[in-house]
Amino acid sequence: MAAKAESWGSRVGLILAMAGNAVGLGNFLRFPVQAVQNGGGAFIIPYLVCFVVMGIPLLFIEWSTGRFGGRFGNHSTPYILDTMAKGRIWKYIGVFGIFTNIAVASYYCYIESWTMSYVYHSVSGTFNGMNQADVAGFFDTYTTIAKSTTGIPFEAVVFYIICLLLNTYILSKGLGGIEKVAKIGMPLLILFGIVLAVKGLSLGTDGASALFPNANAWDGLNFLWTPQFDSLWNPKVWLAAAGQIFFTLSVGMGTVHCYAAYIKSKDDIALNAVSAGFMNEFVEVVLGSSIVIPIAAGYLGLDWVLQNAGFGMAFQTMPYLFQQWGDVLAIFAGIFWFGLLFFAGITSSLAMGTPWIGFMRDEFGWKNKKGAWSFGLIALIMGLPTVIFFKEGVFDEYDYWAGTVSLVVFAFLETILFAWIFGIKRGWEEINLGADIKVPVIFKYIILVVTPGLLGWVLIASVPDMVNKATDEDTNNKEWFADAYYAESYGSTAEFGVVDSVTPNFVKIAFDNE
Ligand code: PHE
Ligand code: NA
Repeated sequence: MAAKAESWGSRVGLILAMAGNAVGLGNFLRFPVQAVQNGGGAFIIPYLVCFVVMGIPLLFIEWSTGRFGGRFGNHSTPYILDTMAKGRIWKYIGVFGIFTNIAVASYYCYIESWTMSYVYHSVSGTFNGMNQADVAGFFDTYTTIAKSTTGIPFEAVVFYIICLLLNTYILSKGLGGIEKVAKIGMPLLILFGIVLAVKGLSLGTDGASALFPNANAWDGLNFLWTPQFDSLWNPKVWLAAAGQIFFTLSVGMGTVHCYAAYIKSKDDIALNAVSAGFMNEFVEVVLGSSIVIPIAAGYLGLDWVLQNAGFGMAFQTMPYLFQQWGDVLAIFAGIFWFGLLFFAGITSSLAMGTPWIGFMRDEFGWKNKKGAWSFGLIALIMGLPTVIFFKEGVFDEYDYWAGTVSLVVFAFLETILFAWIFGIKRGWEEINLGADIKVPVIFKYIILVVTPGLLGWVLIASVPDMVNKATDEDTNNKEWFADAYYAESYGSTAEFGVVDSVTPNFVKIAFDNE
């Protein structure tokens, strides 16, 4: 046990850092894909239910677990869980909260490095005058490792390394560095997001494009927000909703515990946890659904959006659509959009670095600097395969096992620990200690029964999918990409009647061609 080294500078700093941890690329790139693939309005009810019965309870559990561990001078999940129960096993389970972060960081920082590079290319006017195929081709060239768009050899690798160096440098400055980045990044992200959302929604209903005269920016929002109750019986939609809630709130990872370990032992966590959680949901469901989807639907139509949600829209199309606003506005729009993604990304990847640093401190007494550089090095070694073999689907393998399955396993185990071994009585006291809000008592019972029950069900219901994934060669970056495989996945969701009400044309075309 090391001495309590640091604590957060201010409450605002803590909330922004925690919100920055949660608000990430997942809000803007992963959420639209999940929503679109699972039928838009059919997705949103399970998603919101999962937020209330799994997301919020897990935030309470993780914030209070972290603060509890911090009281004993612990800063990483192996040590924190170890203080909560007898038996070494929990210490080993806590290792999930270190390993998952490194694995997710290694592919996450790769996307983050694209956003840096795209800010650079927006500023330098690379996209000016490009047509849609050119912009899409640019992405393709960029992600082909041996090719280059600037003349710098291995450009994507170079940006990836710069991105890791930047993360490492900030992490080496300790909590103060993270707090500073969050204080600058979060307000700018929200500002950029609001500007783009207003611009997007003002494209209106009269077809902004000559190509698709029926294009309507509001179609996108209607698709997302028209509830469809029949999806409530579809387990696939529930699994996707639960997976997105975990990923977006950064729960089941160890980062929340780790940040919370630096909270003074009697400071509020209840209100803080709820504030950071709601800030993430605002950015996800309000901003995340009002930028790419309406802008793309306004120019290219809803069918196109359904087919191209995710990376496809964000990197392969947005720079082209921004051209429609003229050269100067296009440059600003590019800076705002990719800048927003960059701030979303870096405030999250910094969070993924802290568990390792905390663990090295708890275990060996390492200082931030040594912890940060060793983290950067490991992330680089683990990350290079995702960079080099991106097109072979390595990215997707990491995302599935580290970014999806591990989160649910860890969340299930820590809920059992908190509610049943540490004990809900003590747990509930921890949540309410120093609380600035009155947490409704119903959450006590949700944490005791509903959260572990649902988590257990999600795990069991995902087993066939895991077996499939472990044995199937066909990986296609499907959590983040909606591109090529969409017709295939439509085929499977259509059995449940999820996307039926929309009947996109391209799907018919895809099926007719078979
Ligand atoms: N919540 C982040 C996002 O939405 C991702 C993340 C996961 C960050 C786990 C930290 C830890 O992008
Ligand atoms: Na998020």
